Amino acid sequence: MLDLIPDAFVDVDTRFLEPAAGTGNFLVAILERKIAAIDPAMTVEAHEFAVLRCLASIYGIDISDENIQEARARMLAIASAAATFDGVAASEAFVRAAKTILDTNIVVGDTLNAAYQIVFVEYTPEAGERFKRAPSELDPPTVDLFYEPPTPLSTVHYSELGS
Ligand SMILES: C[S@@+](CC[C@H](N)C(=O)[O-])C[C@H]1O[C@@H](n2cnc3c(N)ncnc32)[C@H](O)[C@@H]1O
Repeated sequence: MLDLIPDAFVDVDTRFLEPAAGTGNFLVAILERKIAAIDPAMTVEAHEFAVLRCLASIYGIDISDENIQEARARMLAIASAAATFDGVAASEAFVRAAKTILDTNIVVGDTLNAAYQIVFVEYTPEAGERFKRAPSELDPPTVDLFYEPPTPLSTVHYSELGS
């Protein structure tokens, strides 16, 4: 199915949402295709950031916590392997950032009956290997006098994610 939409994998920041992700079969296939689109001529930091951008633009939901744990673990293994640069393993900061992104955007939830409870983090890449962050509600209320939007988040270098 994904091979039918090759244009979706030209830009590593193209966003995907899997509303019933299971153990991540689509998520890992999307991640692998995004990683294949990374420009190889980079510094270690730029390369790690590029892999994190691939991860940060993929959103997944499943009602089963067990499935979400497995999906996160599969994605982390692929991202960590991809972040290996010139034979040197991904940095601790990379692994911490990757786990943070997966925790915020591959989540347990009921997409059909309680989408309003699901809040992701929208990561937008900025110069200097930084991410602008904003809470992103899947189904914000249209009319609710008592509605309080989620707290804004600061822009950070990727090494600060999860620290
Ligand atoms: C057939 S699996 C599909 C998994 C995945 N899309 C794939 O292709 O490998 C269906 C998944 O939907 C999840 N699911 C069922 N109802 C759901 C709901 N209301 N919200 C979120 N996930 C749900 C199940 O836990 C299960 O993992």
